[in-house]
Amino acid sequence: MSALWNAIGRRLSFTLDPETAHGLALSGLKAGAIPAGKPHDDPRLGVMAAGLAFAYPLGVAAGFDKNAEVPDALIALGFGFSEVGTTTPLPQPGNPRPRIFRLTRDRAVINRLGFNNEGHDAAFARLVARRGRGVVGVNIGANKDADDRIADYVTGIRRFYTLASYFTVNISSPNTPGLRDLQGRARLAELLARIDEARAIEAEIHKRAVPVLLKIAPDITEADLDDIVAEVTDKSLDGMIVSNTTLSRTGLSRDPGEAGGLSGQPLFERSTVMLAKTRERIGPEMTLIGAGGVDSAETALAKIEAGADLVQLYTGMIYSGPDIARTINRGLSAALDRSGAASIGALRDSKTAEWAAKPLPG
Ligand code: FNR
Repeated sequence: MSALWNAIGRRLSFTLDPETAHGLALSGLKAGAIPAGKPHDDPRLGVMAAGLAFAYPLGVAAGFDKNAEVPDALIALGFGFSEVGTTTPLPQPGNPRPRIFRLTRDRAVINRLGFNNEGHDAAFARLVARRGRGVVGVNIGANKDADDRIADYVTGIRRFYTLASYFTVNISSPNTPGLRDLQGRARLAELLARIDEARAIEAEIHKRAVPVLLKIAPDITEADLDDIVAEVTDKSLDGMIVSNTTLSRTGLSRDPGEAGGLSGQPLFERSTVMLAKTRERIGPEMTLIGAGGVDSAETALAKIEAGADLVQLYTGMIYSGPDIARTINRGLSAALDRSGAASIGALRDSKTAEWAAKPLPG
């Protein structure tokens, strides 16, 4: 499959504008046109995190399947989990097109989609109807025009409580003006307190505690990170996702001058340094998911060594195709063979101190 992708699929998909190509990929997954293949059988890749069992440490990051159309088809490609969303209470169109840009030479993407999505009702209907049993997280956000953005997150928790394996509270998209302000200490304390309250009510009704993770931007200072980790710990969240896209343009061979969040290879260093700094602050118990520039077994392993329990990717699949999960799974098994470690989790934190000591790229 990857040879076929390299020969035909990528060239074909890159002749289309990125959003059209993405729509085609979703249609292909829905129609079963992208073959799932045999599962990679290696129990050493299994991870227990946030009380959930993952067959593999690699998942699909939010944004690929905003409307919960293909979570199980993605898992069938070899991902250990998929995260749907960001979903907002009401449907919204997002920003005018074009709003996704490929930076092919840098294996990167800039997007300014702005939470285009069909809203809670559509995602809810699809998740109710799904038959798969894999781990599916629901990434929740706020409508651009909401009077009370925090209330939108509370609505998300309550609406999807019986359907989500875990929740991601996304306050780190750069494309909804003012959203990242929720990362400031006072607003964050209020947001997390209200989420905690909603979760406690639902947990009481359903006798099940659904894990909640906070997804942060890689563009914060270390002092901001201190505050965020303190609030996450104080409000009994289960962990964090580090990170969303960056506003920085460091590491690009050419800056195309487009506004939006940058993902892919140039984000790898920044997001991995931020991940390790988060692990150092948050301690060993909390779940951390590393995202940003993962496109190979080496980069996935580097995130785990820097402190991640689990890893996610999006942009890597745009450049390497749908076989990327299987390729990474095979590479992780080979790394375990070489190291002699009994499980992938045993490699977590082996380089946290080294990564955390690095300065954040300018
Ligand atoms: C994203 N990402 C994203 N994140 C999120 O929490 N909610 C979202 O709706 C989206 N939407 C989105 C669209 C597009 C086109 C891209 C490329 C990315 C961010 C994504 O989940 C991830 O955190 C970053 O892209 C970093 O990982 P990669 O892409 O470097 O593997």
